[in-house]
Amino acid sequence: MAISIKRLGAGDEAILEFLALHDAEFDLGDCGAPQTPLEPEKAKRFLEHSDVLLWVAFDEDKTVGFLQCNVVFLRSSNGQELVLYEIGVHRGWRRQGIGRVLLNQMETWMRENKVDTVWVLADNQEAAEFYRSSGFEAEHPQPVYMLCELKLG
Ligand SMILES: CC(C)(COP(=O)(O)OP(=O)(O)OC[C@H]1O[C@@H](n2cnc3c(N)ncnc32)[C@H](O)[C@@H]1OP(=O)(O)O)[C@@H](O)C(=O)NCCC(=O)NCCS
Repeated sequence: MAISIKRLGAGDEAILEFLALHDAEFDLGDCGAPQTPLEPEKAKRFLEHSDVLLWVAFDEDKTVGFLQCNVVFLRSSNGQELVLYEIGVHRGWRRQGIGRVLLNQMETWMRENKVDTVWVLADNQEAAEFYRSSGFEAEHPQPVYMLCELKLG
């Protein structure tokens, strides 16, 4: 296994599309389904945004994992933190340290950019164990995850 990591940027639309179409292979066994790739203009905007951080892991030429963080701007403290929005390692490549390599990449970015806090919503027990093994701790009391979806036109 020869793992390399790339932060996606302008021109990486094909990788973004691959991740969308193969979403289920990076999710839990009973979750995930092919996603609709972003339209070209939205993909370009996503890839060029400096506050969207998407690292992808390759085993030679195979795409085997990804981690997306977004910068959250704060009105106080040091002004910004990260939300670890999503991580997925391909089913065939789990428990081989790829998730940890992706987290290391994120941590390197945090040190270089003087961002000391990252938070995540762990949505399953295995992921929670993974985060715990890498230094994340659950806060108490726990917040309640709530959603509001508008019907647009
Ligand atoms: C969570 C996930 C990203 C971990 O990726 P990974 O490459 O398999 O993780 P690593 O091999 O780097 O694991 C590092 C350590 O995390 C812990 N860990 C990882 N997966 C674990 C699991 N299923 N159960 C318990 N601990 C786990 C272990 O301590 C592991 O070290 P070890 O293998 O030496 O025991 C991967 O399982 C995945 O893609 N899951 C489906 C998508 C998902 O749930 N994403 C998170 C949504 S919040």
